[in-house]
Amino acid sequence: MTALDFMPAEKPPQAGSVALGTTTHNAAAAAAMRVCEFVQQRRLEGKVAIVTGGARGIGEAIVRAFVRHGARVVIADIDDAAGEALAAALGGALCSYVHCDVSVEADVERAVGCCVARYGRLDVLCNNAGVLGRQAPPSGAGAGAKSGGIATLDAAEFDRVLRVNTLGAALGMKHAARAMLQRRGAGGSIVSVASVAGVLGGMGPHAYTASKHALVGLTKNAACELGEHGIRVNCVSPFGVATPMLVNAWRHSHHDEDEDGSAAAPVSAEEVEKAEEMVRGMATLKGTTLRAGDIAEAALFLASDESRYISGHNLVVDGGVTTSRNVIGL
Ligand SMILES: NC(=O)c1ccc[n+]([C@@H]2O[C@H](COP(=O)([O-])OP(=O)(O)OC[C@H]3O[C@@H](n4cnc5c(N)ncnc54)[C@H](O)[C@@H]3O)[C@@H](O)[C@H]2O)c1
Repeated sequence: MTALDFMPAEKPPQAGSVALGTTTHNAAAAAAMRVCEFVQQRRLEGKVAIVTGGARGIGEAIVRAFVRHGARVVIADIDDAAGEALAAALGGALCSYVHCDVSVEADVERAVGCCVARYGRLDVLCNNAGVLGRQAPPSGAGAGAKSGGIATLDAAEFDRVLRVNTLGAALGMKHAARAMLQRRGAGGSIVSVASVAGVLGGMGPHAYTASKHALVGLTKNAACELGEHGIRVNCVSPFGVATPMLVNAWRHSHHDEDEDGSAAAPVSAEEVEKAEEMVRGMATLKGTTLRAGDIAEAALFLASDESRYISGHNLVVDGGVTTSRNVIGL
């Protein structure tokens, strides 16, 4: 539904008309009021959500959007300081924090349990937590190069990335589904943050790409099973957003630092601008910059009842990067 749905069916006044007739004026005013109501409408009013990896980056934007739209939100993350600070800033009654490493089943189970104990239910799970992992070595690097290339694949690193990005999301689905199923017929919405690296090759390191392709497949399978219970399962696949994850990858490519960035120095405004410039350079859609808030809008749509008949879908937010390549110079 868009603001246009609230516009009156009658024709708008012609350009150049000097005065509005009373009927037209009233209809226009009523339409304007309905547009205002729509804009102000809180799209997750009364719902309870968990956002994993919600302490910073895209997850933080999702948490803020969900709270703004009336949800009570549990942030589940491993960054306790950032998670607690964000929950406190958003107000203890509306938002709380729980320590949760999504790759540890006991943590995920506890996070869902805390949410139900505190707010009485779970309507929305957003599986956002993810790690990039180490990147491929420079092309041409052979044996002995740092790990990341397929010929020098580090099995432990591959396993770590899949445990967080794929198993973590699967565990989230498992325990969220259990909580949702307890409220028979109430349904629910599970939204995972995948990536354009789950659609195309060449968008990220090998383990990351494998983990996100697997997450898109898992989303479709879980949607098949849970549809019977009215639980929708979807994912959002962003192109590059200048979060700490991407800025650390940018740092790595420029300064040969550890790109996973969990313990890296805080991201500066200048680095964010440089990373955004890099993304704009690779983008198909020009004249705009993809931001975390754009991904939060997509997650909000899939979490809310506005998407009530959408399930098993991968909502790609990439300005056309994965669908359009200007091969013939259009
Ligand atoms: N930034 C991008 O360009 C981009 C593009 C496509 C997809 N994504 C995906 O979006 C999601 C969020 O990425 P981001 O860019 O905001 O990253 P980020 O590194 O800035 O933030 C990730 C958050 O997840 C948390 N986290 C990491 N490992 C965790 C774990 N094991 N358990 C719980 N929390 C954990 C971190 O503490 C952090 O708060 C990820 O799934 C990522 O793969 C990001």
